[in-house]
Amino acid sequence: MKEYHVPVLLSECLEALDLQDGKIYVDATFGGGGHSKKILESGKDIKLFGFDQDPDSIEQSKILTEKYPEKFIMIKENFANIRTCLALERIKKVDGILFDLGVSSHQINDPARGFSFSGDGNLNMRMDQDSVLTAADIVNTYSFEELAKIFREFGEEKEAGRIANSIILERSKKEIQTTLQLSKIIENSIISKKSIKAKARIFQALRIYINKEMEVLEIALNDSIKILNPGGRIVVIAYHSLEDRIVKNIFKYEAKSCICPPEFPICVCDKVSTLKIISRKPIVPTTIEIENNPRARSAKLRIAQKKEVS
Ligand SMILES: C[S@@+](CC[C@H](N)C(=O)[O-])C[C@H]1O[C@@H](n2cnc3c(N)ncnc32)[C@H](O)[C@@H]1O
Repeated sequence: MKEYHVPVLLSECLEALDLQDGKIYVDATFGGGGHSKKILESGKDIKLFGFDQDPDSIEQSKILTEKYPEKFIMIKENFANIRTCLALERIKKVDGILFDLGVSSHQINDPARGFSFSGDGNLNMRMDQDSVLTAADIVNTYSFEELAKIFREFGEEKEAGRIANSIILERSKKEIQTTLQLSKIIENSIISKKSIKAKARIFQALRIYINKEMEVLEIALNDSIKILNPGGRIVVIAYHSLEDRIVKNIFKYEAKSCICPPEFPICVCDKVSTLKIISRKPIVPTTIEIENNPRARSAKLRIAQKKEVS
């Protein structure tokens, strides 16, 4: 990997992080290092921790660790473990955390990783190559009910049952091992003419399920809010409604100072508001950014700031 990933909503993220000398920041999704590189090039006297669970990202990060040995530390871990990993580096509090969720272009563009329905590769889809479960395991062993549930829940696919049924039928003839095989099964099973959208939804559903994306996001956001210094920012780019909803709901809950039922005459909940929401509405890329980088088209950026909590 030689090229840096084109960072999505770059200037918006840098402004949102509000980089200041002497402070500590985290890029929780290093990917191809596009955002990290620009954070380090800002000229601010900062410390940056990068996280990624993908071995290719760790390889890519070496360029920055060599260039900024005093400023940049890369950690190969799931961001669900952000708090523990930083504690092991003797860091209890930080001043800004960036999440640019999902898969990176190099993961999508490499057919061998199995994330893309347009190339042909093994049905893998693991971001962390040390984890066990692959997409092939799921499509070849899960029951009709389990498959349909995954496609409905994480792909919001209306023809989930029909697609699950075809998978069960086809795998009884021949094991489903490649992305192209699965693509063809989806294409041949749906009534709707929109097979590209259906493939995108089914591949997304499998990827989310395999990498436990929703569970780890909730853990990581809650822990990130805990380790932010007052005034510190949490900045999140989501690419589909399921993850954006999690971000929105956690920010909303943390911003609330009372969670008593509305019919209660007085507050008895002791809830403390820990966040101020900076972006009431999500920030989206300009048409020029989308033209230059189509991957940015579904991006939604949300920003919140830690409050002084007594
Ligand atoms: C959209 S890319 C980030 C791109 C990056 N901002 C850049 O400019 O190059 C998302 C990255 O997050 C990583 N990732 C996703 N979920 C993760 C998790 N739970 N823990 C650690 N890394 C994760 C993926 O491996 C991928 O490399």
